[in-house]
Amino acid sequence: MKIAIGNDHAAVELKWELAKYLEGKGHTVLNVGTDTPESMSYAVSGYKVARLVAAGEANAGVLICGTGVGISMAANKVHGIRACVCSEPVTAHLSKLHNNANIVAFGARIVGAETAKAIVDAFLNTQYEGGRHQTRVDMLAEIETTQDLTAAR
Ligand code: RB5
Repeated sequence: MKIAIGNDHAAVELKWELAKYLEGKGHTVLNVGTDTPESMSYAVSGYKVARLVAAGEANAGVLICGTGVGISMAANKVHGIRACVCSEPVTAHLSKLHNNANIVAFGARIVGAETAKAIVDAFLNTQYEGGRHQTRVDMLAEIETTQDLTAAR
């Protein structure tokens, strides 16, 4: 798989560790995050990864900032992105299975490296279930494109 990975200054080391981990599993990693400890905005990396995933240039995205919150918020502003912040693997698994999440996010100040690897594995190794979930995922897209939701009227 081609996996886009992005981070801010709070997550440089965890990003490197995960990139090495993913490459060791045969994935191609597109690193668009910062590689220095100088302060930078999570919005930049969140946006870059989101654009790669939305354009189909990456099959999935991994985002890491201090908490995973800001960077996932930035990604979720891009059309077609469903980014989920996870601090454990069960949520990562269900975010793909039910919500067809295409980016997983977490916080370098929240989870350790082994939990981060388990989160990424759970996310990448799960297939979207579709079926009854598709109507709900379609509603997310409707809100995104129209700023309206027919079912809520
Ligand atoms: C940076 O200090 C921190 O605010 C950022 O990494 C992230 O946690 C924001 O959501």
